[in-house]
Amino acid sequence: MVDIPADSFVATALFFNKLSIGDDLKSAKRWKQTFVDIPKEYPHYARALASATTVAQLESKLWIIQELKALNIKPKVVGILAGWYSNFLTPLLLENLGVDFIWNFEMDRDVKELSYKFNKKYKDQNKYHVYITDIMFDDLMDNSSKNHLARCEEKRGPYDIFINTSCEHMWPMNRFRDLNSELSNDPLYVLQSTDDDQYEEHINCVSGPEELAKQANFTEILYSGTKMLDSGMNRFMVIGK
Ligand SMILES: C[S@@+](CC[C@H](N)C(=O)[O-])C[C@H]1O[C@@H](n2cnc3c(N)ncnc32)[C@H](O)[C@@H]1O
Repeated sequence: MVDIPADSFVATALFFNKLSIGDDLKSAKRWKQTFVDIPKEYPHYARALASATTVAQLESKLWIIQELKALNIKPKVVGILAGWYSNFLTPLLLENLGVDFIWNFEMDRDVKELSYKFNKKYKDQNKYHVYITDIMFDDLMDNSSKNHLARCEEKRGPYDIFINTSCEHMWPMNRFRDLNSELSNDPLYVLQSTDDDQYEEHINCVSGPEELAKQANFTEILYSGTKMLDSGMNRFMVIGK
């Protein structure tokens, strides 16, 4: 059995401390139960669960909230691209930044179940949905997703922001932008990547925030920065369009 490391519990404690909703005992208990159940019932998820709940993961997601607040950007509808379990980012966007609705566009089908364990409250409130798609090959308006997107745009309005904290895992973001040039407004992008190429899945590392912005064909940059995370990894972030 893979044990959930102490780092995950430290990060979880810090995370609940940062959430702007006072004591959410119900969600805290659900997180605790997830940490107990996953290694026993779904051992193949345990390692990923541990990786998704580190202090470094929390730091990189808090950074997004901090910089969007500093720029006074208040998105209502957010598309998270390749959001994995979105265990930290979804609650932080909804509770701390006043976001109304989030779609997580993820290609890994297994992500859904675990993501909904962490975000059950928001799924039940119809504020958070995981949509399974490969964002580098299927545009968000393709036939399979047309209905849900039309529904989303009708009910929620168009996307204000797309957030991708997994840029190192995929093709450069200009490909996504070209595929989705028909989106009904001019969304802002928040992108994160790294130069840490020691992992096989990091197929598109960049040298710094400049290269990340260039890969996305940004013509306007509102924020550009580098942060060394608790894990020792360099993280780059750009906000722009
Ligand atoms: C390991 S995780 C995220 C790590 C990232 N550093 C973070 O902090 O969020 C990478 C995720 O990207 C997803 N992914 C990679 N390429 C994708 C694509 N083309 N479309 C949708 N999801 C993708 C994977 O399924 C995986 O869940």
